[in-house]
Amino acid sequence: QANERESMYLVSEFAQKNFQHNLLETGKGKAIGLSYFKERGFTTDTIEKFKLGYSLDEWSAFTDDALKEGYQLEFLQKTGLTIVKEERRFDRFKGRVMFPIHSMSGRVLGFGGRILTNDKKAAKYLNSPESDIYHKSKVLYGIYHAKQAIAKEDNCYLVEGYTDVIQFHQSGIENVVASSGTALTPDQIRLVNRLTKNITVLFDGDAAGLRASVRGIDLILEQGMNVKVCTFPEGDDPDSFARKNSLEDIKAYLQENAKDFIQFKASMLMQEAKNDPIKKAETIRDIVTSISKIPDRIQKEVYLQECSRIMDISEDVLFNSLAQLDKKEI
Ligand code: CTP
Ligand code: MN
Ligand code: MN
Ligand code: MN
Ligand code: MN
Repeated sequence: QANERESMYLVSEFAQKNFQHNLLETGKGKAIGLSYFKERGFTTDTIEKFKLGYSLDEWSAFTDDALKEGYQLEFLQKTGLTIVKEERRFDRFKGRVMFPIHSMSGRVLGFGGRILTNDKKAAKYLNSPESDIYHKSKVLYGIYHAKQAIAKEDNCYLVEGYTDVIQFHQSGIENVVASSGTALTPDQIRLVNRLTKNITVLFDGDAAGLRASVRGIDLILEQGMNVKVCTFPEGDDPDSFARKNSLEDIKAYLQENAKDFIQFKASMLMQEAKNDPIKKAETIRDIVTSISKIPDRIQKEVYLQECSRIMDISEDVLFNSLAQLDKKEI
């Protein structure tokens, strides 16, 4: 079993190098993949730092290379790099630019691959499937490159996507990781919790997933971490925002717009509920549920007071609602 995993790591390492070689040293890779990354504003240093690559637009170019180098089909399949259908072999990531996903210690666990066309029928990103070496619920994109800065800054920015991480690094902000579009998990939060107690969640300015994402944040509170949130202007995500602004301006924006999570959620819920009494009752349960996740009792108390003020609801009502929740948990 340990040997199998080692073989999967080696195949993944080979794939990373193969995709990187395509990108930097083949005509097609340079014309298609490298020019794509350059157009997105990535420098040569950045492309090297994150080991970005390109999977050739041929049915099995990568698989053929790997087999020729002596890697076994079994492990190409187990890592999901090769798909076998009716005895025929296909490269999973054919024609995509490649983002290797590294473990905390820098081993390649899997990949995200972005399509280059605007074809709305195909998935924009394809990711490696779950495997013995890649558990997507336990990985954060960028953690290997961010870990030192997270500890040093004593804060971690959590963004949605691969390119947000990369563009922030290029701008000079290195304490940043991505959940890669999936709902945050306790294991992912634990990875950060080892390095800092402070997390700032940066949301894309499309608001689509805002409500759903806000729900996931209770998991961070549960681990006793301090959570701030920051949204970006409509139509921007951290990547596009960072491209348009200087490091100073990005830092100033984060400074001015990062809000305490509970306060942010209380105001957001209030705006939604407005004068609707039924919604307002739901809202109370919702915010009190978040507060109930905070392990520290004094902190809980302070937040009850804050929310009472923000939501214009008496402290007693909030307190009783919290007490009822606590009773149910027991
Ligand atoms: N994602 C995914 N599959 C998709 C769409 C998104 O896995 N079909 C994940 C990717 O990790 C992506 C993240 O969700 O980076 C955020 O999605 P989105 O904001 O749509 O993409 P961006 O990262 O902004 O990508 P780009 O700027 O290249 O459009
Ligand atoms: Mn590597
Ligand atoms: Mn998004
Ligand atoms: Mn985005
Ligand atoms: Mn984007």
